[in-house]
Amino acid sequence: MTSGPLGKPRPLLKTDLVDQFDCGKVSMNDWLKKHAFQSQSSSHTKTLVVVDEQQRVLAYCAYSVGSVEHEDATPERVKKGLAKYPIPIFLIARLAVDRSMQERRLGKRFLLFILKRAAKAAEDIPLIAVVVDAIDDDAKEFYRRFDFTPWPIDGLRLWLLMKDLQATLRAAAPAEEPFAEPVET
Ligand SMILES: CC(C)(COP(=O)(O)OP(=O)(O)OC[C@H]1O[C@@H](n2cnc3c(N)ncnc32)[C@H](O)[C@@H]1OP(=O)(O)O)[C@@H](O)C(=O)NCCC(=O)NCCS
Repeated sequence: MTSGPLGKPRPLLKTDLVDQFDCGKVSMNDWLKKHAFQSQSSSHTKTLVVVDEQQRVLAYCAYSVGSVEHEDATPERVKKGLAKYPIPIFLIARLAVDRSMQERRLGKRFLLFILKRAAKAAEDIPLIAVVVDAIDDDAKEFYRRFDFTPWPIDGLRLWLLMKDLQATLRAAAPAEEPFAEPVET
């Protein structure tokens, strides 16, 4: 548990303290500890972190851009009107919050922060949807709360059309800036 306000997410540094990170899911803990920095160095994914005063990681989110084949399991609404070329997407690969900070809205704030990044990127790069691969059904329920739709319906991949995200963000009040206020600790 941390005692002060938390700053905005920033890129993972090699010196960040990751050893004690525990979100309750071993594979997500291990990925941060063993692969996140290397994946960032090789430009496969970018990992943003929220840290405490000691630079201990309290939450992380890894994302990248990619594409899905038009013929793959892609929702009709995503495919509609598109030529049969690969569909560019913003992929949220992993989002996790340390147990000591769970249920304090940090996950929600972090997700909104990343979604804003995705929408901003889509101003310059053609990105049709935000896609997230939930680790399990529990995680799937978390993303469903934020307008993500599972597709295939019984799978762990969820979709949010970029035009829907952009419309939601346009309608949101400036007060909903995810890290405008410190996270309560
Ligand atoms: C899922 C996770 C990121 C949520 O982070 P968190 O900081 O605890 O969640 P928040 O406090 O921001 O919750 C925001 C809202 O989502 C709800 N919520 C949180 N986890 C949920 C879940 N698994 N299913 C459904 N709703 C959930 C909260 O009740 C809250 O609702 P409210 O706005 O009505 O109060 C976190 O529990 C975690 O790291 N879990 C382990 C790793 C994981 O599963 N990551 C996601 C898959 S990649």
